[in-house]
Amino acid sequence: MLQINDVHAGYGNLKILRGIDMHVPTGGIVTLLGGNGTGKSTLLKAVSGLIPLMEGKVLFDGVNISNMKPHERVRLGLVQVTQAKEAYPAMTVEENLMLGAYIRRDRTDIVADLERVYEMFPVLRERRKQMSGTLSGGEVQMLVMGRGIMAKPKMLMLDEPSAALAPKVVLEIFANINRIAKTGVTILVVEQNVRMALILAQYGYIIRDGVIMIEGKAEQLISDPAVKESFLGGSVADTSKALTN
Ligand SMILES: Nc1ncnc2c1ncn2[C@@H]1O[C@H](COP(=O)(O)OP(=O)(O)OP(=O)(O)O)[C@@H](O)[C@H]1O
Ligand SMILES: [Mg+2]
Repeated sequence: MLQINDVHAGYGNLKILRGIDMHVPTGGIVTLLGGNGTGKSTLLKAVSGLIPLMEGKVLFDGVNISNMKPHERVRLGLVQVTQAKEAYPAMTVEENLMLGAYIRRDRTDIVADLERVYEMFPVLRERRKQMSGTLSGGEVQMLVMGRGIMAKPKMLMLDEPSAALAPKVVLEIFANINRIAKTGVTILVVEQNVRMALILAQYGYIIRDGVIMIEGKAEQLISDPAVKESFLGGSVADTSKALTN
């Protein structure tokens, strides 16, 4: 569904991504993992068209979208939920959700999808008339995911949906990503919650300094010594060491 071929991109003259190759097959969940500042959000921005490519190309459903405007990509069904989690604070929850559907004309389906979002996130139904600025962090995350669904995506790209959330809320968010995928939406999820992301996804890529270091089936990555070394191990020892310096 999504094919990223030798993508180089960055900001002005500053190159961040240095030849990224990735593939997200239809119907699956793929995760992109990596530390802070490694280029994960930059890659999603390049795929969404928010920043231009310096080299390489991006194909969506076989169509070369490399030079399309962001809204044209959304119209094709490629929808991103950004890391900033902007909800319009002075608009109600329901108004924010309806914004996601702005490109659609299919009125009755929009109403059905709103119902689907409320079934998935009952707390959003309870708070539908409430100003979005008064929501908790977890509720805002559900709101921006719900708004993504309202765009009727074929593929949803989520940038760190679990960031800054309590463990119980993280579980709820991951369960809902799984439910969204089961409705036939292909998912690319950027995460720092490595272990959980590798349980959720079928395939994973690990990025460092703008290049893919490791890729593979999620169940293989989770037991890969190199992955454990980078992400999963040593945290207690590392923490103690950091605190003694
Ligand atoms: N608008 C910008 N202008 C210049 N440099 C930027 C801009 N946005 C990001 N960068 C730089 O690009 C690099 C990669 O940033 P990016 O946001 O892609 O990282 P990330 O992997 O998403 O990190 P995090 O996990 O912290 O969100 C960083 O060094 C960052 O400082
Ligand atoms: Mg980021």
